[in-house]
Formats: sequence, structure tokens, C-alpha cells
Amino acid sequence: MTNEAVADPSGTDAWKQLQGFAATVGVSKIRELLTQDQSRPTRLSCEAVGIHADFSRQRITSEVIEALIALARQTGVFELRDAMFTGEHINTTENRAVLHTALRLPRHAQLTVDGVDIVNEVHEVLDRMSLFSDAVRSGEWVGETGKKITDVVNIGIGGSDLGPAMAYLALEDFRDQSITCHFVSNVDPSDIGVVLERLNPETTLFVIASKTFTTLETMTNAGDARAWVVAALGEASVQKHFVALSTNAQAVTAFGIDTNHMYGFWDWVGGRYSMDSAIGLSTMIAIGPKNFRSMLSGFHAMDEHFKFADAGSNLPLLMGLIAVWNRNFLKIPTTAVLPYSQYLSRFPAYLQQLTMESNGKSVRRDGAAVAYDTGAIFWGEPGTNGQHSFYQLLHQGTSVVTADVIVIAQTAHAIGNQQDVLVANALAQAAVLALGRTAQEVIADGTAPELVAHKVMPGNRPTSVFMVKELDPRTLGALIALYEHSVFVQGAIWGIDSFDQWGVELGKKVALGILADLTDGQVEDPNLDAASRADMQTYLSFKQR
Ligand code: F6P
Repeated sequence: MTNEAVADPSGTDAWKQLQGFAATVGVSKIRELLTQDQSRPTRLSCEAVGIHADFSRQRITSEVIEALIALARQTGVFELRDAMFTGEHINTTENRAVLHTALRLPRHAQLTVDGVDIVNEVHEVLDRMSLFSDAVRSGEWVGETGKKITDVVNIGIGGSDLGPAMAYLALEDFRDQSITCHFVSNVDPSDIGVVLERLNPETTLFVIASKTFTTLETMTNAGDARAWVVAALGEASVQKHFVALSTNAQAVTAFGIDTNHMYGFWDWVGGRYSMDSAIGLSTMIAIGPKNFRSMLSGFHAMDEHFKFADAGSNLPLLMGLIAVWNRNFLKIPTTAVLPYSQYLSRFPAYLQQLTMESNGKSVRRDGAAVAYDTGAIFWGEPGTNGQHSFYQLLHQGTSVVTADVIVIAQTAHAIGNQQDVLVANALAQAAVLALGRTAQEVIADGTAPELVAHKVMPGNRPTSVFMVKELDPRTLGALIALYEHSVFVQGAIWGIDSFDQWGVELGKKVALGILADLTDGQVEDPNLDAASRADMQTYLSFKQR
């Protein structure tokens, strides 16, 4: 598929039709849409794998949805989806298949890609991970001095950190409380420093998670951890206290980890799509192999839904299409992810990489510059905390922000009516974001005239509400796969490669140059610009103060 001509979405009939709708439906008031048609929540809701999505607070109509589905057809979204699932090399700039969906195929499924039975390979790794996780959890796997492992430190960054770190918090109620996981990602020495200060090398297992096994931050932190263990327990202890999650057996061996203690994956798993691969080992140790497989079943169920459901009731498709509508036709540049769940506190951070590293691109797969907007900026915080920080701007700022409100109905911690208080806040915010409050209503409240303008809420912020029964491993898997496929749909329409990340490479290279300069005390590097040279000078002088 390399450099195959890609349909320019802006040249399609559907795009032009949607531009027409942007001038009518796009400027309509959500409040009026909801008042005029009481059946709207029923018509504009969709449910899959236990996730109920209410899109009725979006500035859309059934006609807009039809035109968006036509856009998907005219830009080849369904063909690209099928090409992804069958292992065609749709990551064209790296000439790779994109097969994170194969990581959750059941054992009996069949998928041969580039001549290899990959389901078999996936399950071989999962089985080895299960044996190892069980051994660590039961205490059969012990450290160098014979003690049970009590602490697992995942050292990784980006996709080798965010997914496991997010899932560890999300699945708190499913965790083995006798083992604590720690996540070290930043090259800031304080990150690893604080963790090492608190742990005992005899009872600590390090999981070095890196697809490439070359990432500067991870290899620096892994080197520190290795030195710490060796200083306390000797060189031979590395085999008992380190395992690797990687595609790079050579580098793992060079680091001193036996490949028997390496859990592999494949170049067709992108870093930000890898938390259900070997990269999930810390998750599996924390929640156990059975729960991990339940999480995989949730991912898989959403994959199947995305693959087979009709367009009109295909949840990830609709979600991706509405994101395109908001981005390209309503011109809204940013989306707030607002999970009303403390357990999902790292979900926005996880989604930042998934969405922005995937769709933050301005060149199409065929190399042409895009003439339209692509990936929105994603960010967020759990509710209700965010309400007391940035919601003011959501409600009354000059920039319109779309919002994904995520609601969990049941909690394992039924304390008083606190869950109802939480959910009442989620629904209240969705209502206020969408409906706002008019001047007449504010006046009717008896507001002093000089304050009326300050209390008017414009509303009309397109808001989706996603609701699930409970946050269990299966639901978490389904929720993540929902976002993965929504991201896919958006990238497919925009004609970009959602699976490469060339934009992060230059910074890494420049950092190495600056590091060499700092090490040599060379602050007059002619390859650097004046601002960088000046900042290096300032840094060195501050360091010596
Ligand atoms: O810098 C971006 C990136 O390549 C991500 O895509 C990836 O998840 C992360 O770095 C970590 O990479 P690795 O797993 O190879 O250490």
C-alpha cells in the first residue's frame, strides 16, 4: 500500500454535503435540538460491549450521521479497516502491518501474516507470561536471597508505561495487594531515585519495558536499576531481578538479561497499542492471568463489533465520525476527557498518546500535505476534581471544547450515597455544557442586573456521555479498544498514517547533541542556535551556583 493514492476527504461529495450541514445543523443549539425532539437520546445512542454512548448532546442530526457514514465510504475507511485486520502493511511509512487486534484473538482463531501463524505466537507469549506471573504472585519465583517478590518496577516510557500505569490504577479492585507495582518513566533522576530509596533489592523485580530497547530514558533508568541491584546482590542476581519486554533480543542479551526472561512482541504492535502485549506483564502480575485474559476478551469483543456491526450502530465508527465532524466542520480543536472515576485518573494521559501520537500529522499517506485539520488536542482530569480547576473555561471561555464524559454506574466501595453524588455531578456537567443558561433564566433566578452577563452560560459544547456498569478488566479492554478504533476511523478519513511517529525523532537526536555538549562543557556549539547556546550557558552557571 506504500504511497498508494489516498482519497482526499475534502474532495468528496460527502465532505461538501457536510460543509452545507455545518452552516445549518452545525450552528444549531443543542438545547433546541433536545427540546424539539424528545426521542433524540434514543435515536442518537449506541451500545456495544456494555458501553452505552449517548451522542444526543452533539450538534448532529440523523442526516449528518448519514453524510458522515457516506464520507467513511468515499474515503475507503471500511477497506482500510479490513486491510488492518488481515495484516496488510497499512503503516506505509514504516512498511508494517498494524495488528494490535491480533493480540486479543482467541486461541482457536487463525491469522497468518507474512507467512507466519501469529495467533500461535501471541498465545505462546501469553502462556509464558501467565506462568511467570503466577510464579511471582505465588512466591514460587524468589529473588537472589530466596525472598518473595513484593515490589515490581516497570521501567518504560510512552506506550511502554502509560497503558500499564493507567491499568494498574483502573483495576485497583482486582489487584493482588501483596505486590506493589511502581512505574518509572522519566529520565529525571528523581523518578527512579525516589523508588529505589524506598525499596529493598532482595524483594524487587524490575520489568524493563521497551519495544526497541534503545530508548534513552528507559535504558538510562534500567542501567541505574541494574547497578543498584548488582551493588547489593552481585552480578548473578540480574537473572532473578530483571525481565525484559521487547522486540529486540540482541539488545536484551547485551544488557545481561537471559532471553528466557524476555517476553517478546512484534514490529506490528505500535508502542501506544501495546498494553495488551507482553508490555502488559506488570498488569498481569498485578491482576493475575485470568483477569488479564478477561481484559483481552473486552478488547476482542470491541474489535469484532467494529469489524462486523452495521455502520449505523457501529460505536467506534460513529465516535470517530463525530470527532471528524467536530474537528473539520465545527472547527473545534480540542477534546476534554472527563472520566468520573478516580480509578481512571491516568486515562486522559493514556489517551493523549493514543490520540495525539497517532493523529497529530499534517502529511497524508501519499506524501501530500493535508489541506484540512487533523487530530484534536486531547487532555483531561477525572471528575469531580476537574470541576474545581478548568471547567470554568469549558463553560464560559472563548474556546469551545468538546467533552467525553465517562460514567461508571457501580462501585466496589458503596459508601453512603457517594456514587450517586459522583454520577449526579457527571450528568449535571453534561447538561450544563450542552444546554448552558440563558439571560432570561439568569434574570428569572433573581440575579442582580449587573451580574446577569457574568452568569450567562453559552452552553452548546458538544458532549458525549459514555456509561458502563462497572470498571472491570473486560470493560476496560472494551473502552480502550473503542478509543483505538475511533482514532483509526479519524486517521483513515484524513488519509494519514496513524501508526508512525516521525515527529518525535528530531527532539531525541538534538537532545543527544546537547548532552554531548554539556558533558564536554562545550557551550559554543556552532550547530546550535543562539537561544539554545544561551540556555546551556545559563544552565551550567545555575548548576554551579
Ligand atoms: O518517543 C515515542 C516512542 O517511540 C513511542 O511511540 C513509544 O511508545 C515510546 O517512544 C517508547 O518506545 P520503546 O518502547 O521502544 O522504548
